[in-house]
Amino acid sequence: MNHFLDIHKTEADALRGIIDQASAMKQARLGRPKGMPDDEQPLAGHMVALIFEKPSTRTRVSFDVGVRQMGGQTMVLSGNDMQLGHGETIADTARVLSRYVDLIMIRTFDESVLLEMADYADVPVINGLTDRTHPCQIMADILTYEEHRGPIKGKKVVWTGDGNNVCASFLHAAGQFGFDVTFTGPEQLDPEDEFVGLARKAGATVTIERDPVKAVAGADLVVADTWVSMHDSQSSKERRHNMLRPYQVNDALMAHAKPDALFMHCLPAHREEEVTSAVMDGPQSVIFDEAENRLHAQKAVMRYCLGV
Ligand code: CP
Ligand code: NVA
Repeated sequence: MNHFLDIHKTEADALRGIIDQASAMKQARLGRPKGMPDDEQPLAGHMVALIFEKPSTRTRVSFDVGVRQMGGQTMVLSGNDMQLGHGETIADTARVLSRYVDLIMIRTFDESVLLEMADYADVPVINGLTDRTHPCQIMADILTYEEHRGPIKGKKVVWTGDGNNVCASFLHAAGQFGFDVTFTGPEQLDPEDEFVGLARKAGATVTIERDPVKAVAGADLVVADTWVSMHDSQSSKERRHNMLRPYQVNDALMAHAKPDALFMHCLPAHREEEVTSAVMDGPQSVIFDEAENRLHAQKAVMRYCLGV
């Protein structure tokens, strides 16, 4: 069974196939009204459960629209409204849902919830973000990079700020897609050693550089994310902002990257905090293409999971 739990857990060939299929499916429906079905209906007769234990705009809407375009049906479930949020075990929830639906996407806090869901479900499970990783986002980001600049292989990706869940999935992807990652941020917020080690073991060069100006030199892609993620306590906000302020992506910092470097942010963004509006709305920014590509990338992820 093909779960989609983390980028490094899926074969590189399969990942490349997902990106290529996403691109082809996107092209095939260019200019078509969003609510119009795709010509191919690979999810016809399929029911997909979308479970959210955290807020979401992009993941929720893009999965829902994607399933419908491919002819399937969805149910969007809030963890809190389910018995899952009131003491029913993850294992029992997984076994029950498997009797009703063909595919489960879950956004949750602790990664163990995702993994246990996958262990006990009889249907594929997709990671829609955990405290540790966000693989669907990075599939959309790779599709976006390649649409604008060609193959990402051999490129220099610079992650700025907090070495968080989205950063982790970039590290997972680095090994699989063959690009290099430079992390620039305060030591306290370094990405986990495990993720850096995995990327290096898979052949990627991972550099930790405290000086953001040195870090972005020669960058093909500069990436920012919120300084306070959904799983971080609000009481840490001031401390994090103080540590992270030097890592804001602004025009002055972007000027040190390659002239044709792109800027990405998974969104939601906090304008004038981790990134200025000038960069977000500037010519190097592809943030809304990234958001759109969540739809196309995840449609291909779902086809991979269901083998259709
Ligand atoms: N980027 C992303 O996952 O956005 P949402 O939290 O809105 O789903
Ligand atoms: N790092 C962010 C990503 C949101 C899509 C968070 O986990 O809140």
